[in-house]
Amino acid sequence: MRKLLLYDIFHNPQTQKYLKRSGVAHAIAASYHALTLARKYNVNPDLATKAALLHDIGHYTWYRNGEWDYDLYKANDIHAIKGAERAHKILIELDEDRESAKAIALAILLHTDSYLPEGALQLDPLQQVVKLADEADEEPGGMHHYRTISNERACLMIKKLDEKVNEVLLTDPTTTLKQPS
Ligand SMILES: [Fe+2]
Repeated sequence: MRKLLLYDIFHNPQTQKYLKRSGVAHAIAASYHALTLARKYNVNPDLATKAALLHDIGHYTWYRNGEWDYDLYKANDIHAIKGAERAHKILIELDEDRESAKAIALAILLHTDSYLPEGALQLDPLQQVVKLADEADEEPGGMHHYRTISNERACLMIKKLDEKVNEVLLTDPTTTLKQPS
């Protein structure tokens, strides 16, 4: 069975602090997309939903004169690097399986190539699912970061997603808890 639930990760104070910066609604929507995509590509739904939930927790805000400065963001952003490190720390503190924590952190690190020099990345299936899940919820101008959701609804959706992940793991014998290599 799963060692750690989305519910526990979501309610961690550090997770809450970072998710409120980058957008709780986007994180939850991306997690739901990740479950659908994980089923489609036969990827571990536990890892995919956790990585999608935490994929943007490395975001800073890039304001100049009170306005979001996209050029400043583009030039200086390292949110995937920061997010991978933060997510790994949170997961280890919550006693996540170490192999899972590493796979989740790597998927977060590689969910965008916006901070990397030109070149093609070879993503594994889990990393691809997390990238696609993020893109599935993106809105022009980064508006997905500003969509809101009530605490009550967010908690309910996370609980429901945990149940769905458990169902998939119980009913789909081809989906294992380990990341396919
Ligand atoms: Fe995102």
